[in-house]
Order: sequence, then structure tokens, then C-alpha cells
Amino acid sequence: MKIKKEKWDTLDGVLDKIWLMLEQGAAHSDDPFHWPVLGTKAKEGCSLRTVILRQVNVPDRILVCHTDARSAKVQEIMKSSQTSWIFYHPKKKIQVRISGHARLHARDPYADRQWADTSITSRLNYCTFEPPGTPIDKPSSGLPDFLRNKIPTILETEMGRKHFMAIAVQIFSIDWLILKITGNRRARFEWDGDRLHATWLVP
Ligand SMILES: Cc1cc2nc3c(=O)[nH]c(=O)nc-3n(C[C@H](O)[C@H](O)[C@H](O)COP(=O)(O)O)c2cc1C
Repeated sequence: MKIKKEKWDTLDGVLDKIWLMLEQGAAHSDDPFHWPVLGTKAKEGCSLRTVILRQVNVPDRILVCHTDARSAKVQEIMKSSQTSWIFYHPKKKIQVRISGHARLHARDPYADRQWADTSITSRLNYCTFEPPGTPIDKPSSGLPDFLRNKIPTILETEMGRKHFMAIAVQIFSIDWLILKITGNRRARFEWDGDRLHATWLVP
């Protein structure tokens, strides 16, 4: 009898599935991979925060998220471009840990394209007068009066463009782990330029 190979039984199959899960995460807000945690090097150890996975470019191995250019993470990336990401899918019990070098895009055609694709509600995130993390006297969105408590027009949100930044991270390694009753599995994928080294690991 021929034993059917599962997609998790080969390193190629695992990697294909990882790319698929990342693409689905970027495309669907109800997918757990839409909400990864991004880690940057900070003064004291590492700094972690939830972000939205906006885009995945599989051929170039690039993950994209958006942020406010005035945020702490941008300062941290300027000091060290090395970033870490963690994705977890609770139903599939799959953890994907990714390391990669970040490139910041503020005022270039790449950022213009990303900005053009943002929704009005996302754009509001970049419209605060004060930078994210500024102490304030009472709870507030930090938005100017004319943008508060209403859905603004796309033109009104254009003021956010100057604070908008796309963070594009080129992946250099992926650590994949699946928990299964029949035995956990773990694999590592590492790129040296375009050369891929893939290996199974003891979970
Ligand atoms: C569900 C969720 C999604 C978020 N998505 C983003 C995002 O895509 N980009 C971003 O800059 N901050 C996002 N944030 C806010 C960050 O987690 C963080 O609070 C903020 O960016 C400030 O981080 P920093 O001071 O480390 O730069 C999100 C927060 C939550 C709870």
C-alpha cells in the first residue's frame, strides 16, 4: 500500500504552505496571520508590537506593514534594520518565526503606491498632530477636531501622507513549528542571497 505524503512531509511542501499562509494572512483580516508581532532591537533588549501584515511578495521574500514615521519602531529600525516577526495560527497550531532586514519607505514611489491602497480608516492613524507615544492629559485619539467622530473624506486624510511609512522586510530565515498529537515537527529555512538552506529540526 502506498502511504500518502502529507504537505508537511517534505521541506518544499512546508515552505509552499508557509508562503500560502502568509499570502492568506495579508489578504484576509479574519486570518490569524493578518496580525503578526513585529520585533525590533531596542535600548533594553527587544521591542514587540502587533502590526497588520499588509502585503507579501513571495518571489522577493518581502513582508510589508505600515506605520507612522514618528513611531519608536522607526527610530529602532533606523539604528538596526534587523527585525523579527512571529505569526501563530491557533487552529492549525502553527508558529512561524521570521527574521529579516527592514527597509523604510517614506517619500518614494513604493510608499506612494502603498498609501494609494490604504483605506480612509487606516489613513486616520497617520493624522494625529503629536507623534504616537506622546503623553497627554486625558484619553484622546490625538486627531485634530475636524477629523474627530466622523468618517472623513479621502481628501481630508491626505494630511496623514507625510507621516505614513511602509516597512518592507526581506526575509532571511524562517523557523516553522507545528504541534501535532502524532508528533510535533519543526523546520528551518535560511537564505544566503538566493541560495536556500532548508533542514528539519528537533522540535
Ligand atoms: C490589532 C492591532 C494592529 C496594529 N497594527 C499596527 C500596524 O499595522 N502598524 C503600526 O504601526 N501599529 C499597529 N498597531 C499598534 C502597535 O501595536 C503599537 O502600539 C504602535 O505602533 C506603537 O508602537 P512603537 O511605539 O513600538 O512604534 C496595532 C495594534 C493592534 C492592537
